Amino acid sequence: MPHLIVQRFTPFNTPLGENGAVFTFCSGGDEGICGVEMADRKFLLRWFRHEKGTILKADKTTRPPLLNVVKHALSLLAAAGRSTVVSRGLEDAGMDMYQALFEPNIFLGNLSPDQRLWIEAGFGSGRNMLHNAKTHPDMLHLGIELHRPSAEQLLNRAKREKLNNVAVIISDARAFISALGSGSAEKIIVHFPIPWDESPKRRVFTDSFVAQSLRVLKKDGVLELRTDNEFYLQYAQDLLKDIKEIKIESRKNAEAAVSSKYEDRWKRESRDIYDLVVTNLSESEAAGVRCDFSFKKTVSDETAIERLSNVSIINERFIVKTRHLWRLLGGGVFFQLVFGAIESPSAIFLLIRKKRAEYYPHNPLQTEQNSLSHEALLEVLYA
Ligand SMILES: C[S@@+](CC[C@H](N)C(=O)[O-])C[C@H]1O[C@@H](n2cnc3c(N)ncnc32)[C@H](O)[C@@H]1O
Repeated sequence: MPHLIVQRFTPFNTPLGENGAVFTFCSGGDEGICGVEMADRKFLLRWFRHEKGTILKADKTTRPPLLNVVKHALSLLAAAGRSTVVSRGLEDAGMDMYQALFEPNIFLGNLSPDQRLWIEAGFGSGRNMLHNAKTHPDMLHLGIELHRPSAEQLLNRAKREKLNNVAVIISDARAFISALGSGSAEKIIVHFPIPWDESPKRRVFTDSFVAQSLRVLKKDGVLELRTDNEFYLQYAQDLLKDIKEIKIESRKNAEAAVSSKYEDRWKRESRDIYDLVVTNLSESEAAGVRCDFSFKKTVSDETAIERLSNVSIINERFIVKTRHLWRLLGGGVFFQLVFGAIESPSAIFLLIRKKRAEYYPHNPLQTEQNSLSHEALLEVLYA
């Protein structure tokens, strides 16, 4: 990921306009943050003092998908901090493949209701997705992956093969699926989810994932699980056993059109492979959750710091926990929180300036658990 190492970086007062960018807030300190707006995006830059100087980089959760924008922002930050650049990690590779890497809220905001959509959760090497993109060109193939290098590898290959019907979101698929509109996809694919014997908390198939997937699928849409593990198959069948208006088919050792890296390995070990195909037989109702995520009342910096600096609300459904706070130069506070579903929490930022609070750079995804975390946060902040 691009970064700069600089010397004599000095945090600065904001707002500060620099060559097409506006720095909107800035903290002091040895591990600081700075908000920037450029190319119609808002995102966060960070710096860390280091033995070789100060490292400047983009925050990975808010960073826009356009690498050239990030590179430009870092150079402008170095200039705004009146520092001298001593080394650059601004490699050029794959710059425009980032066009297909979306921020979750931006993707959701631009998704047309007429768009035909297949989703693959945890695509790994991406072989299956690329195959689907080639064989089903009228469909948008959306991959949701936690592992950024896998996403970059897939997008590089899609670019080389001139496939323009592939999109990727770096997110926990469990959280992202629950933010999608009802009846918006024709297929949800989960092939070889993380191995059964790794932590149950990391399992993609959960009660909530199954319920949300069936809501997101159109009538006759399909949820597809492929696994080498019989326990996983049985566990998934158990999750489905009381659900009405679905059709379940299972197969053993059915040949797939493409074989993933994982599948190749299991085949070499002569292991059985299981498919579970669940067809949704009903029209889903619109999602009930619509939280506006706003903060209606005012709060001073000192009160916000007193009330939020040690928040730790953890229960079986959601979490709100303070990870870090930064005081901003010229007034204001910036919090990093752990937020949302207990099994798939995300990093969320809260900006308080001129007594007004807002999530930065945009609201959390519309999920039931994020709305519970928001309500809990309001209670603490306005206690
Ligand atoms: C065992 S690999 C399988 C990859 C691919 N589907 C295949 O068939 O080879 C599991 C993949 O799921 C991703 N993953 C695990 N949990 C995830 C989650 N909650 N959301 C999105 N991706 C996830 C991992 O990063 C990894 O790439």
